[in-house]
Amino acid sequence: MTGSLTIRQVTPDDDPEAEFDLRHRAFGPATRDRETMLAEQHAFVADGALIGAWDGQALVGSARVHDMRQWWGGRALPMGGVGGVKVAPEARGQGVGRALMTEVLAVMSRRGYALSALYPATAHIYRSLGWEIAGGGYRATIPGRSLGSLLAADPNLGEPASASVRPEPRGDPGGRPPGLAPRGDPGGRPPGLAPRGDPGGRLPGMALRRAGPQDAEEVIAVLGAVHEAARHCGPCTRDAGTVRRWISRPDFFGYLAPDGFVGYGWRGDGAREMMVHTLQAASAPTARALWGIVASHASVTEVVHVNIAPQDPIGWLTREEDLSLRLRGNWMLRVIDPRAAIAGRGFPVGAQISVPLELIDPDLPANSGPHTLTVGDGRGYLLSGLTEPAPGSPASGPVRLGPRGFAALFGGVPMTTLRLAGLAAGGDAHADALLDGAFAAQPFMLDWF
Ligand SMILES: CC(C)(COP(=O)(O)OP(=O)(O)OC[C@H]1O[C@@H](n2cnc3c(N)ncnc32)[C@H](O)[C@@H]1OP(=O)(O)O)[C@@H](O)C(=O)NCCC(=O)NCCS
Repeated sequence: MTGSLTIRQVTPDDDPEAEFDLRHRAFGPATRDRETMLAEQHAFVADGALIGAWDGQALVGSARVHDMRQWWGGRALPMGGVGGVKVAPEARGQGVGRALMTEVLAVMSRRGYALSALYPATAHIYRSLGWEIAGGGYRATIPGRSLGSLLAADPNLGEPASASVRPEPRGDPGGRPPGLAPRGDPGGRPPGLAPRGDPGGRLPGMALRRAGPQDAEEVIAVLGAVHEAARHCGPCTRDAGTVRRWISRPDFFGYLAPDGFVGYGWRGDGAREMMVHTLQAASAPTARALWGIVASHASVTEVVHVNIAPQDPIGWLTREEDLSLRLRGNWMLRVIDPRAAIAGRGFPVGAQISVPLELIDPDLPANSGPHTLTVGDGRGYLLSGLTEPAPGSPASGPVRLGPRGFAALFGGVPMTTLRLAGLAAGGDAHADALLDGAFAAQPFMLDWF
C-alpha cells in the first residue's frame, strides 16, 4: 500500500480491465468468454453491487453482491450473496480485505438485505464480521443408466403419482429490498401452461416444454413455488436478468413444467458427463418427467452430476443405492437485520415458543440488546425488550448470542453445538430445547457464487 485507501462502488467510468486483471491474479484464468464477463460486470456495476478498494489510482480489492432471495421455511428473504472477494497479492495482509468487507456489510444493511451468505475460501475474515457456517452446498453423482428405471410408487397407496405438494397461493413475493427497482420477479404462482408435447416421452399429457430466455420470470416463479411448497431452508432464487443470461448461454438447456424446472449442460468434451444445475419439482409426476429428460440421455451420458438437497427425493427413487452425495462446500450466513429475518422466514407450524434473547452485535450495534423471540403458527417475531418472566420460572436470564451464534442458530445448528463452540451463553436447557425445535433445519443451496 502506497497511499490512502478509498472504498466505494465501482462506476461505469472505472476501467473494467482493472477488475479483470485483479480477478485473474486472485482466482486464475477466466473460465468464461470475455463477452459474458463484460455483460455480467456491467449488470453488477449498474446495480451498484460491485464494491472496489483503491490505493491511490490502483484498484487493489473488490467484492460483488448478488441480489438474491433465500428461502427459509418456505418463505423468501432478501439476501446479499457475497462473491468474488479479492485483494491484489501485493496489498494483502494490510487490512484491505477487512475494510472492504466492512463496507460491503454496510452497503447490504443500507439496501435492506435481511441476510447475507457466502462460500468462504478462508473463514477468519468473515467470522470477524459476523458470518458463520450455517449450511452446505451438496452435489450428487448418479450413473446415467440408474435414472432410466426409477422405482414405481408404492402400489398400496392409491394414486400418489397425482399428489401435488403445492401449497395454497399465499402472495408471499419475497421481493427485492426497498430502494432497489423491481425487476419483475413476481414470486407468485406460474400461469398454467398449455401442453406442448412431451420431449421426455415419459408422461403423455405432461405440460413440459423447452425454456427460453423469455421464460426467465416464469422459471423464477416456478422454482420459488417449489421452495415454498417444500418449506425449503437455504436455496435461493435470482433476479430475472441473471436467469435470462443463464438460459441464453449456448451450453445451457432448460425444460419447464407448471410446477418444476430442470436446467443442465455438459461437462468436458462431448456428452459423457452431464451437469444438472438444478432440478426441482413440486409434484411426483413432474419430478419423474424432469428426471425423464435427464435419463433420456443415458445412451451417451455415463455420469450425471447434480446440485441437490441432501434429502432430494431422487435418493429414494433409484432402484439401488447408486447416488453418491458429497458436501462440496459449506456456506456462511450473516443475519444483517434480525427482526426482519425472523419476521420474514417460515417456522415449523407446530413450534410455539417465547424465549428471551440478548443479541450482541458490535459491527451492527442497532441489532444489539435484549429481545423476546416469539414463534407460533409458522411465523416468528423478534421484539425489542424482555417479557416479564412467569412467576416461578427459573431466573436463568436470556440466551446470549453474538452475530455468529445467531446466524448458526438461524441455520438450525443445535444449541448444544453453539454452546460447545463458545457461540452461545446464558439461558437454560429448556430454552435450548425450544430454540432447537423452532429452528431445526438442514439448509442447502443449489447456487455457487
Ligand atoms: C482473503 C483475502 C481477500 C483477504 O484480504 P487481506 O487484505 O489480505 O485481509 P486483511 O489484511 O484485511 O486480513 C483480515 C483478517 O483475515 C486474516 N486473513 C487474511 N487472509 C487470510 C488467509 N488467506 N487465511 C487465513 N486468514 C487470513 C488476517 O490475518 C486478518 O486477521 P486479523 O484481523 O485477526 O488480523 C485476500 O487474501 C485474497 O484476495 N486472497 C485470494 C482470494 C481469496 O481467497 N478470496 C476469498 C474468497 S472467499
